[in-house]
Amino acid sequence: MSSNTVRVLTGITTTGTPHLGNYVGAIRPTVRASRRPGTESFLFLADYHALIKCDDPVRVQRSTLEIAASWLAAGLDPEKVTFYRQSDIPEIPELTWLLTCVTGKGLLNRAHAYKAALDKNAEAGVDADDGVTAGLFMYPVLMAADILMFKAHQVPVGRDQVQHIEMARDMAASFNHLYGGGRELLTLPAAVIDDNVALLPGLDGRKMSKSYDNVIALFGPREQLKKQIMGIVTDSRAPGEPKETEGSALFAIYRAFATPDETAAFAKAFAEGIGWGDAKQQLFERIEQEIGPMRARYEHLMANPQEVEQALLAGAVKARQLATPLMRELRQAVGLRALTNVGKSASADKGARASLPVLKQYREQDGKFYFKLTQGAATVLLQSKGFDSPRDAGQAVRRLQTEGATALAALKEWVTTPQGVSEASVKDALERLVSNSV
Ligand code: TRP
Repeated sequence: MSSNTVRVLTGITTTGTPHLGNYVGAIRPTVRASRRPGTESFLFLADYHALIKCDDPVRVQRSTLEIAASWLAAGLDPEKVTFYRQSDIPEIPELTWLLTCVTGKGLLNRAHAYKAALDKNAEAGVDADDGVTAGLFMYPVLMAADILMFKAHQVPVGRDQVQHIEMARDMAASFNHLYGGGRELLTLPAAVIDDNVALLPGLDGRKMSKSYDNVIALFGPREQLKKQIMGIVTDSRAPGEPKETEGSALFAIYRAFATPDETAAFAKAFAEGIGWGDAKQQLFERIEQEIGPMRARYEHLMANPQEVEQALLAGAVKARQLATPLMRELRQAVGLRALTNVGKSASADKGARASLPVLKQYREQDGKFYFKLTQGAATVLLQSKGFDSPRDAGQAVRRLQTEGATALAALKEWVTTPQGVSEASVKDALERLVSNSV
């Protein structure tokens, strides 16, 4: 990877069959982005994640094939991108465990998906963790391993997934601070949210989603596509009556496939009273123009799954060329090492330890109680004034430990930062202090 290449990584949980909303919202933009110069794309089938949601083996297998075939049919070039199946990379569950050990349980308690499950149970009046597997609880750690394994810079996600990327950053930071000794063993990823990617409405006008049962299949038979489009809900205006484009699912879907000129012409037809049947026919033809050639490729791949299997296995080889050496380095860093060199890396290990910030409490000759925040052997980042009571000093320390930098405002009368120490480094140290004491 050259230094200015951006590495973009995306995972798709293998529980469903791709629909038109997936195509417009994820597949098409990701395939396009993967062709952009200066980006390096990692795309994988998150089949370990599928097991969290689905205990039907037939469905997991079938979905893995359908999703892989869909991406390939939509133009993903496995020579150019790294396209693989999560469960073909044994380093991913291995990294998951290392991350599990640096992740506060409290952090996972705050995950939206887990909290939603708790809320649902509370509402139903059942035990808080009823039906919640440890897999659901650990979901964010597995996802962090997916991302950190390949040192991804950017992860394009929907808003519902942003928290997971933030958690991955937290885990990477904790891991680096504990074991890196100043080195960035793991790369901190950033979430990329594209608000321009229109949410495609479904048959009933709500967001197209499997859970609303309002989807149009992406690569169903041509006749099915036509039938589904004819089933899009419209109002009761007759042919000849002007139609609203605003709020029309039919129009929104058309726009997602058409050029601006075509869209303008379609809007004009609406204003001039095109009949719904004709409008649907035009929509069908426009979608078919884009999807039709891909469908042929999809059908070929579905009939020849060994071609998909081959592509994925080749992708796994490529992916492991990065995962295997990184995992070797990480095992070394945490102390999972050959026994023949016991103690040899002791000085490097001390370096890693010494870089952790520490809050120390002490009493001075003047009889007062003090604390300071230090980093390494010599650097003082915060120095407190003298407290008359040890309790007050202890309370201030606890606030810094639990609230981090947010406690600084309340304590500003009590702490000073030595000259030459930047506010940012104090905040950074406090943040690490918090993440390491959860
Ligand atoms: N959680 C993602 C979803 O439900 C799927 C996923 C798993 C993923 N691992 C990932 C996405 C890593 C991006 C990066 O959509």
